Amino acid sequence: KQYRIAVIPGDGIGKEVMPEGLRVLETAAKKHGVSLHFDHFDFSSWDYYEKHGQMMPDDWKEKIGKHDAIYFGAVGWPAKIPDHVSLWGSLIKFRREFDQYVNLRPVRLMPGVPCPLANRKPGDIDFWVVRENTEGEYSSVGGRMFPDTDREFVTQQTVMTRTGVDRILKFAFELAQSRPKKHLTSATKSNGISITMPYWDERVEAMAKKFPGVKWDKYHIDILTANFVLHPDWFDVVVGSNLFGDILSDLGPACTGTIGIAPSGNINPEGDFPSVFEPVHGSAPDIAGQGIANPIGAIWSGAMMLDHLGEKVAGKSIVDAIERTLAERTLRTKDLGGNADTTACGKAVADMVD
Ligand code: NAI
Ligand code: MG
Repeated sequence: KQYRIAVIPGDGIGKEVMPEGLRVLETAAKKHGVSLHFDHFDFSSWDYYEKHGQMMPDDWKEKIGKHDAIYFGAVGWPAKIPDHVSLWGSLIKFRREFDQYVNLRPVRLMPGVPCPLANRKPGDIDFWVVRENTEGEYSSVGGRMFPDTDREFVTQQTVMTRTGVDRILKFAFELAQSRPKKHLTSATKSNGISITMPYWDERVEAMAKKFPGVKWDKYHIDILTANFVLHPDWFDVVVGSNLFGDILSDLGPACTGTIGIAPSGNINPEGDFPSVFEPVHGSAPDIAGQGIANPIGAIWSGAMMLDHLGEKVAGKSIVDAIERTLAERTLRTKDLGGNADTTACGKAVADMVD
């Protein structure tokens, strides 16, 4: 089967790291007999906005909605266009319209990457954060009354649906079941948030019954964040609501080093819609145009994309290549203390793929 991938580089360093991601994807695909077809799109960028007065064409859904996956760089150019316009006009639309209810990020300490936590070596930290991406605390139910008076009143409600909670938990339990440790941790706060969080806990317990091979536990979000820092070796798959998952999915990768290597997926697991794979970082206007951005976040996102498409061997070959390149400590970008440029680093990873 040939996979059709929509490629959207976006803004700033997105345009610099994506060619390296594609280079490595093409190398891995060739070596493992995977057929990838790339369609390139210039929308979801400031350049497109400048010409057309909007972030994307009206028929963007027809243009990319039938692809097997979307490979994305970064969007945002705050000097020209406010972030809420650019991000809500593109990336957030993908997440909503394509029902990408899973946000997935690996937390993995790679060799040769300085770890901000003391006494940790590669192998000690290797887990996934699974964030609910469509409901929960980030609802628009609420309101503000009597503005600028003493009676001012502001409220915003958490919305949890059975469908929404169960589907993210099912994804997380399945992921845990596929891993050697088969261990799931749930983020909760049922001691303070007394309606929605006990409901979340209840659904975790119900889902756990369907996965008898998976060991599971739960922590309140406050101590859980502490444990990410103090005991990152305790975790295998960690699942959280939209807000808790948001916090954990930034904290996790921060515990393992530079933002330049962190990948992510916004996933619709059923495949009714395409999923988006993108580096965690943004368009980095401060270093854009210099050719020094670290391409590994984009490259690793490509590996996640292959994994999602079912091409696990090809995906793993990329993660292994990243690991070996970083371990050699020769061709590294500036953020990792080296002086290789973006292209040299991308080529080095491509050469390591086997
Ligand atoms: P950023 O991630 O673009 O940059 C933060 C810092 O990390 C900067 O100092 C940058 O130079 C450095 N950095 C980021 N990626 C790097 C890489 N690959 N190699 C080396 N250094 C790297 O975040 P910032 O500055 O807050 O946002 C810039 C723009 O990107 C904004 O418009 C923001 O809204 C947007 N953004 C877009 C995202 C997306 O498309 N998913 C995610 C985050 C931010
Ligand atoms: Mg965040």
